[in-house]
Parts: sequence; C-alpha cells; structure tokens
Amino acid sequence: MFNIVVKDSYEEVSEEAFKVMHAVLMKEDPVLGLATGSTPIGLYQKMIEDHVKNGTSYANIRTWNLDEYVGIPRNHEQSYYTFMHEQLFNHIDIKEENVHVPVGETGSPGEAVAYEESMKDITVDIQVLGIGSDGHIAFNEPGTPFDSLTHITDLHPQTIKDNARFFKGDEAQVPTQAITMGLATIMRAKKILLIATGENKADAIYNMIHGPKDPSCPASILQDHPDVTVILDKDAASKL
Ligand code: PGA
Repeated sequence: MFNIVVKDSYEEVSEEAFKVMHAVLMKEDPVLGLATGSTPIGLYQKMIEDHVKNGTSYANIRTWNLDEYVGIPRNHEQSYYTFMHEQLFNHIDIKEENVHVPVGETGSPGEAVAYEESMKDITVDIQVLGIGSDGHIAFNEPGTPFDSLTHITDLHPQTIKDNARFFKGDEAQVPTQAITMGLATIMRAKKILLIATGENKADAIYNMIHGPKDPSCPASILQDHPDVTVILDKDAASKL
C-alpha cells in the first residue's frame, strides 16, 4: 500500500523523509536499510544534524546497504562503501561492525550468497529507496525477476554512461557490474521509504503506482508491499 506525500522542494522532501526515519529511530535497536545516490543525501544530512543537536544515538543501530560496484576495492573513492561513510557513517556514532555494505570485489556468486546470508536472521525496519528513471530500485534493472535475491548484475549501458562523470569522464573506468539486493530481498523490509524528485522520475513513479505489476518496471513490485511511504516533489509527482 502506498502512502504518497508531495512536497514543494527537495528540502521539504528531505525533512518529511527524516520524520518517517525518526519515528523508526525511536524504536529499540532498529535495523536500517540504506541507499546511495543523490536523492537520500538530504535525509542523511538531517540524520547527522539530529545526532549532533539532539544526541540521537546510532550505537545500537545496524545498517544494511542495497548495493555496491563490482571490481573496485571498498576504499576506492567511488565505492558505495566510501559514499556511505562520507555522507553519513563518519558523522554519527554508529559502530563499524554494525555497518553492512555488500562486498563485490571479485564479482563471484559467493559474494552475493554471503550478503543474503548476512541478512537471514534480521528484518530491516525501514528500507530507504531511490528510483531510476527506468523504474529500477537498487541495481534491479527492468527485466529483473520479482523473486530475485542478492545477485551480481551487469550495469545498464546508460548507467555506465551516466556514471562516467564520477570516474574522470572515462567510461572505461566505470565498473561494468554491481552486487545488489534482489527485489525479493527488498520486499522483506517491514517498511519502505521511497524518495524521488525531478521530472525525469515522473514516468517511473506513475508506472510504479499505476502501471501493471511487471518486471518491466521493477519498482511496481512495491504494489504488493503493505507499507510504502513515497515522498515526492511536485515534478516527480506530476504524472500522478
Ligand atoms: P539518484 O539515483 O538518487 O541519484 O537519482 C536513484 C537511483 O538510481 O536509484
């Protein structure tokens, strides 16, 4: 079930997302599912602000991230492991052993199995998600089966082009594969918090909510989830 909230600006979207996150942070030892990408940065800034100003502690909080590039070391400046530390973990009191980001250093299927295994006995209390303009969630591109678990996947040629800007403009340096939670893995979360801004997300948001439930729009699987909060700016909501 979708609970849709539309706000005027990115700042207000981040504020609203933080309210939803904060309610979960107030529970005992919550497990957070986190995402990279530009969209959640505002939410992470609000979490840092709240930690600094109000002392909200992450000492007993565990996190699992959605995805990671294959074939670059964790400490690479463009790894999602580095992104999460720079954008959030280095600024709060989370314990490093409680942080989980998939390891895709070799791209072997064993790395995917190990990550899925690491989640076997936990339930993510809140999973933060962005959405791609093609309806992808994490690195589950169109065509990914709804019953997929954590797996290694090829990056879409468009994604490689788009991400070249982070690799000195050189497409050849962009990893060609990623390790990602599968759609079935994501669906196990108790609550989903999906954030999207900008007109280029409007079609994907429409298809997620009103389109057929079909792997051609991976996010449409969320139609079957009991608790999805979708926070949008007016542009991302413009086709609803
Ligand atoms: P973005 O990415 O937040 O950088 O737009 C979202 C996504 O592709 O999942």
